Amino acid sequence: SSEAELIHMFKGIPFTTRSSLELLKSLDTFDAREDDVLLVSYPKSGTHWLAGVITKLYSTQVTLTSPIEFGDISKLEELNKLSSKRIIPTHLDYNMLPPNFKNKKCKMIYISRNPKDTAVSMYHYYRENPNLPTVDTWTAFFDLFLKGDVVCGSWFDHFLSWEEHENDKNILFLFYEDMKKDLPKIVNEISLFLGLNVSDNDIQDICKKSSFSEMKSDTEKENSDPSHTVCALTSNRKLIFRKGTVGDWKNHFTPKQNRRFEEIFNEKMKLSKM
Ligand code: A3P
Repeated sequence: SSEAELIHMFKGIPFTTRSSLELLKSLDTFDAREDDVLLVSYPKSGTHWLAGVITKLYSTQVTLTSPIEFGDISKLEELNKLSSKRIIPTHLDYNMLPPNFKNKKCKMIYISRNPKDTAVSMYHYYRENPNLPTVDTWTAFFDLFLKGDVVCGSWFDHFLSWEEHENDKNILFLFYEDMKKDLPKIVNEISLFLGLNVSDNDIQDICKKSSFSEMKSDTEKENSDPSHTVCALTSNRKLIFRKGTVGDWKNHFTPKQNRRFEEIFNEKMKLSKM
């Protein structure tokens, strides 16, 4: 596709054209089911990692769908047809989420990550992903990220729209960094939130199978199957598992960029608990 065809705006937010305008416009009519589980994130926050954990927690059949905002209008029908429990990823901000998920109090898990690492991860993703516009340098991408001029819009707006609902009983807030620090603890928290009864042994096993190296090597085997990606921006899973570390921003940010980022962070997040 030509660069101009890659991105379009919907309600002030840049989406890739892999999310059709028709689908975006009809999301409000989406028929949620009470037992749907939503997996919510700003891109590059650990969505695939969390999806890997959640699907392994269930002993019954569940279907991990592609993101609700990804595809064309046939998407709604396709999701309607699924007979098993649905785990539905999305990068939508809270205000854009189909109201039925809110009315039916579906369980939602929001995963967030230090936005500095998210920015770096997204930069590399932009560089590798033909579905996204070209960015020439880290400096150029840094400016776009701070302006929210990237796919899915501003990290700050996305986070704040969800943080407002942090205390809703049907929403669990998680951080990538906490998963890195103590995965069994977080997996246990997720399983309690989802009302699942998972033994300590199974939790240990799930953690082992969800390590960066295991997930990356699984990908090499499964890459030909696009249904294995939970990102609306690519069907190439190889692009997802890059480094999987905390603090890679230190290898990219100049001291001046860091100061600027923190100024903007402090201003935008002044009412946030983060
Ligand atoms: P990096 O680019 O910093 O390596 P998403 O799934 O939301 O697109 O996020 C992708 C980021 O999560 C990438 O970050 C990727 O490496 C990291 N990631 C994926 N699986 C992981 C795992 N099992 N453990 C740690 N990080 C993981």
